[in-house]
Amino acid sequence: MKRSFLFLGFVIVLIGIWGCGASSSTPVKVVKTADGKVSYSQTIQPVLTDSCGSCHSESRAKGGLNLASYEGLMKGGASGVVVIAGNADESQIIGSVERTKEPHMPPSFAGDMPTQGIAALRQWITEGALNN
Ligand code: HEC
Repeated sequence: MKRSFLFLGFVIVLIGIWGCGASSSTPVKVVKTADGKVSYSQTIQPVLTDSCGSCHSESRAKGGLNLASYEGLMKGGASGVVVIAGNADESQIIGSVERTKEPHMPPSFAGDMPTQGIAALRQWITEGALNN
């Protein structure tokens, strides 16, 4: 009897930890610049930091990709550029987050990038991937 309660407690704690992980990403706030374009600094960078920062930062650039700065994003990773300004469909980063091109990102165990974040990233690339 006591053991089963212990086990139940363990399961509840696990669900709690899992739930926190799944809801940790902050809601996406799309900010536009004066000319009506999606802002890199106020929209894209915060989304990338939130969804990708744990593995793609200055000090921890998995796949050689640092997503903590505009320069890092535009430089790309070990396999080459990930953003082609003006062409979202051909951009590796879009294929990765929409899970149509390998590597799928974030890795499945780390959850999906928020749909709104993907849409904002797509629009920003289509609008020329400016450092705005
Ligand atoms: C839990 C860790 C983790 C998270 C979170 C993560 N990645 Fe990755 N990413 C990796 C690893 C590991 C690799 C290298 C292995 C590979 O290519 O499969 C990689 C590779 C990549 C590559 C290929 C780079 C190249 O040139 O080969 C892209 C593009 C990428 N990630 C984009 C993203 C984006 C965008 C996000 C956020 C939406 C993200 N990743 C979140 C771990 C992560």
